Amino acid sequence: MSEPLWKRVWRTLQKEGLGSLWLKSLDALGYRRLYLLRRPLVEPIGDCPMTLPVEIGWLTFEELQDYFAFRPDASRHDVTQQLLQGDRCLVARHEDRIVGAMWGSSTRASTTPLLGRDLALAAGEAYQFDAYTLPEVRGMGIAATLSVAWLRHLRDEACSAAIRMTFLWNVAALRSHAKAGYRVVAVVRCFRLGSRRYVFPRGRFMA
Ligand SMILES: CC(C)(COP(=O)(O)OP(=O)(O)OC[C@H]1O[C@@H](n2cnc3c(N)ncnc32)[C@H](O)[C@@H]1OP(=O)(O)O)[C@@H](O)C(=O)NCCC(=O)NCCS
Repeated sequence: MSEPLWKRVWRTLQKEGLGSLWLKSLDALGYRRLYLLRRPLVEPIGDCPMTLPVEIGWLTFEELQDYFAFRPDASRHDVTQQLLQGDRCLVARHEDRIVGAMWGSSTRASTTPLLGRDLALAAGEAYQFDAYTLPEVRGMGIAATLSVAWLRHLRDEACSAAIRMTFLWNVAALRSHAKAGYRVVAVVRCFRLGSRRYVFPRGRFMA
C-alpha cells in the first residue's frame, strides 16, 4: 500500500524543507519546473572525491539481473528497451553489488515522461538521465564520479557537451551535477491542463 499523503508531506518537510515541499506541491497540481543543465566538454574534467571504493563499468544485457536487484522499482520492459535502442548505462559496483547508475544517450533526449515531449539534441550534444545511488551510500561522491566517467567517455567520442534535466527541488542531484561541472542554462516550465502539457521555452522541444 502506498504511503499516506500526510506522511509524505511530513517527510519532505523534515528532510528537504519548506521550499522543496512548495515546489513538489506545485508539481502535483500540474505546474512543473526543471533546470536544463549543460556541461561543455572543452573544459577540463577533473576527478571528484569519493569516499567509497567502486568499480565503474558499462551495464550489459548479461548484468540486467544485478540492475533489477539494485532498482527493483525499474520496469524490466523499459530498461531492456533502453539498452536495445542504444542508450547506455554506467554502473558503480562496490563489493560486486551495483550501488549507483547513470544513463545516457548520444542520439535522443527522452524527456517525454517528464514533460510530455522530447528535447531536441543539438549537434555534438549528449543527454544524461536517471542518476540513482542506493540510499545507504548517498553523499559519498558516487553520482559525481559516474558523471565524470560519462563526461570523459563522451569527450573521447568527440561530443561537445552533455546536457541533463533536474527538478528545482532536487538539491542533492543539483549539488552532485555541479561538482561534475554542470551549470544551469535554462529553467523549463511545464503546465498540465487535463491531458495536455505545455512546455516553455518551446524552442528546444520537439512538436
Ligand atoms: C541525486 C543522487 C543520484 C545523488 O547521488 P550521490 O551519489 O549521493 O551524489 P554525490 O555524493 O555525488 O553528491 C551529492 C551531494 O549532495 C549533497 N546533498 C545531499 N542531500 C542534500 C540536501 N538535502 N541538501 C543539500 N545537499 C545535499 C551531498 O552532501 C553531496 O554534496 P557534497 O559532496 O558537496 O557533500 C541521489 O541522491 C539519488 O539517487 N536520488 C534519488 C534519485 C534522483 O533524484 N536522481 C536524480 C535525477 S536528476
